[in-house]
Amino acid sequence: MRRFLVVGHRANTNGDFRLDDLPGTGGRMDIIAMSVSSALFLSHGLRKDVEVWLVLLGGVPRTVKIIGPEARYLFPDERNIAGMIRTNLLRYREGKRGTPGIYVSDMDFREAVESASADSVLFYLEEDGENIRFAEIRENSTFILGDSTDLTPEEEEIVEKIGARRISLGRKSLHTYQAIAITNYELDRREESGTGGP
Ligand SMILES: C[S@@+](CC[C@H](N)C(=O)[O-])C[C@H]1O[C@@H](n2cnc3c(N)ncnc32)[C@H](O)[C@@H]1O
Repeated sequence: MRRFLVVGHRANTNGDFRLDDLPGTGGRMDIIAMSVSSALFLSHGLRKDVEVWLVLLGGVPRTVKIIGPEARYLFPDERNIAGMIRTNLLRYREGKRGTPGIYVSDMDFREAVESASADSVLFYLEEDGENIRFAEIRENSTFILGDSTDLTPEEEEIVEKIGARRISLGRKSLHTYQAIAITNYELDRREESGTGGP
């Protein structure tokens, strides 16, 4: 299982944002939606071994988990994904069940990281980390990323303390969804070569 944990520092958690204004009322929900698309979608469907945890912090903290193999009614475009996140945030507020494969909870960043560490090895994607091509990456891994801003010093302290390793895709600062696409590529290549290496 490959997991991406993306922090939306300003992302709306009420579900009252406009789909035609994801950067503004959504609190950069455009980045979050594009990250989900990069993480989960192949040309003709969803990846079967990938999940995305969205830690949304622009209000009362919420963590939205999207489990690739279980998700239904999800399409790769930004508007559809943001709409599904909105629907599930609203349903959660109203105490209703979410849509298949999407689970909302009250977890904040620390809780989400601790929960992810229970069943996977943690990696913090960061420009100054170890080259991903030389990093030992096991099957069950969680990759932690910021959105338009990096993790805050407090968040970095949490990931450091829990033992997440810093890994890098190069020194250039990429968008979150680009970093996710490249990570998927690097890991796919390893799987295809069957060597566990680049
Ligand atoms: C837009 S960047 C955040 C701000 C960026 N670090 C800057 O200085 O402009 C979004 C996230 O993508 C990840 N990221 C971006 N470039 C990366 C790289 N070269 N290697 C690893 N992760 C990267 C990091 O997790 C980062 O928090």
